Amino acid sequence: MAKPKRYLVTAALPYANGPVHIGHLAGCYLLADIYVRYLRLAGEDVKFICGSDEHGVPITIKARSEGISPQQVVDTYHFLMKNAFADFGISFDIYARTSSDLHHRISSEFFKTLYDKGVFTEEETEQYFDEQAGQFLADRYIQGTCPKCGFTSAYGDQCENCGTSLNPTDLIEPRSTLSGSKPVLKKTKNWYLPLDNFQKSIEEYIESLKGVLKPNVYGQVKSWLNQGLAPRAMTRDLDWGVPVPLEGATGKVLYVWFDAPIGYISATQELLPDTWRAYWQSEECALIHFIGKDNIVFHCIIFPAMLMAHGDFILPANVPANEFLNLEGNKISTSRNWAIWLHEYLTEMPGRESELRYVLTSIAPETSDSEFTWKDYQARVNNELVAISGNLVNRILTLIQKYYGGVIPFDLSDFDNAPELEEAVSTAGKAIDSFIRQFKFRNALQSWMDLARAGNKYLTDTEPWKLHKNKPEEAQRILFNGLVLLGHLAKWMFPFMPHAADKLLAMLGNKRISYISDSIVWSANEKLPIPELLFRKMEDAELEPQILKLSAIKNQDQSIRSTPKAIKETIVFEDFQKLDLRIAHILAAEPIPKADKLLKITLDTGVDRRIVVSGVAHQYSPEDLVGKNVLLLANLAPRKIRGIESHGMILFAENSDGQLVTVEPTKPVDSGSSVF
Ligand code: 2FM
Ligand code: ZN
Repeated sequence: MAKPKRYLVTAALPYANGPVHIGHLAGCYLLADIYVRYLRLAGEDVKFICGSDEHGVPITIKARSEGISPQQVVDTYHFLMKNAFADFGISFDIYARTSSDLHHRISSEFFKTLYDKGVFTEEETEQYFDEQAGQFLADRYIQGTCPKCGFTSAYGDQCENCGTSLNPTDLIEPRSTLSGSKPVLKKTKNWYLPLDNFQKSIEEYIESLKGVLKPNVYGQVKSWLNQGLAPRAMTRDLDWGVPVPLEGATGKVLYVWFDAPIGYISATQELLPDTWRAYWQSEECALIHFIGKDNIVFHCIIFPAMLMAHGDFILPANVPANEFLNLEGNKISTSRNWAIWLHEYLTEMPGRESELRYVLTSIAPETSDSEFTWKDYQARVNNELVAISGNLVNRILTLIQKYYGGVIPFDLSDFDNAPELEEAVSTAGKAIDSFIRQFKFRNALQSWMDLARAGNKYLTDTEPWKLHKNKPEEAQRILFNGLVLLGHLAKWMFPFMPHAADKLLAMLGNKRISYISDSIVWSANEKLPIPELLFRKMEDAELEPQILKLSAIKNQDQSIRSTPKAIKETIVFEDFQKLDLRIAHILAAEPIPKADKLLKITLDTGVDRRIVVSGVAHQYSPEDLVGKNVLLLANLAPRKIRGIESHGMILFAENSDGQLVTVEPTKPVDSGSSVF
């Protein structure tokens, strides 16, 4: 496709039956937001569309279990999600909802157009019907015994015990979860989209996107196509959704995956009642869907087939789908509450939006599943955001206050004789542009951080604090070059961390940036405000409640715990007696040059002082260890590690993330106390 004149970017409409968690953000919404914010800054015409997906069986199940109406469920979660997204800086141009009248009208018309064109086939099938409740039963409303494993509470679509996917008629002794009664099979008519008729067109379409789609997306679609497409029902016997707009279709609604993607169209019409066609019906527009990997088939096969069948719409130009984010060693699970919920994060860690945006972008599951842990979050905040970018800002702005009272001595907008900074800015700008346009957000963020690294190097190389006395003009030139660099840093930071970028722009003298081509201009005698820290260090105490919260959830739910290793082969007491296990006191610890995992630790064993080399430097700094009383295996044969003789081994427990935790006595004991 030639360079698009317009972009229509959508993010998967989340189901309004629960709040948003970090997995949703890292896999879809945050990346879409960075993309859109960047395109806007680059001066592109872009619209960012999202909203709540308010239909479907899970919502009716939630309503029943809570004794409220489906409308009440979606009202609650729609506003919860909408506000959390906004506070987190996800800059949708519209956040609509599929229960709106407009959406009902537009999806109904879409269905009718396809119906009038003769696209659908009508099929009569036998479905379970609850005679007491007087309604057909969706798969999830039927339970029974799994024919594979005998689990008595398997659902009509899947056995949650053995994972087998099922049809409702596979269940032994089926029962309705509505009334508990035995359902009967009854004939019902539904409308099917004959995807098999679209096999060839979809294949051609996907081939046209080869090399454009990410390899994970292309590969998955190809495998669906290779299995051969089959007709799919586009209507359901259900009382919650968009009613099927046909005679004799009472009690039937559109399949949620038929109306949800039309939600992108209805939301655009709500946003742009007069001009929406310039996006949806113009080859000059690139339609881009950000989604999680579980939605690939709907966005790359079913929705394109619907759009082809309709005929008036463009097809998606790209579908950047991402993999999943895991949490502390386990899959995120809404039903088990194993998640970090955005609305809770925002209230429990106020003012930390940028930190979460930074960490989630750094670990975004772009090509494979990735892992969030609070310790990694803390390390990235402290060692990267605070230590590299925050430190650069702080060094420059405090020196400018100290030496010049914050007053800028001359008109300023460009570097003065700093080719290394010019080069760094140009490299970062090109890299960020190219990475973002290729949906490589992790690399783009790294390129931004490289700019801060280049700034720190410039200061370390030029040492303006040493020149201030004897070569004041030189020091001044360097520091104001640093200020110009901070302007660039703020500008490129904007798509990733808009809250922090605004804060930095305020510290640079209440500046504004509208476009990437803007440069910040300071006039002579302008005075900068007293700077604050751009990023605050994340202390253990601030994180502790979060870590405790997750461990409380884990302790309540065995299924989240990782499986402990099997017990080793039996030994006799004499074998055990051979081990000299004792408590030793750590006197000193120091890093070992060129061995970034190792620490050289000096211990008091009660009988001697000795050195042990331990591979824990990635988790413990020397100061963390000094003073601890730890468990030592004292009679292990000495071993040379990196030229240092190690006498014994400090023992650690391993937690579920593979992190090593010291084993310490719970009451004071002397160094050398034996453990038996
Ligand atoms: O997986 C989900 O959360 C779906 N509600 C996504 C729908 S995307 C689109 F089609 F609306
Ligand atoms: Zn089973």
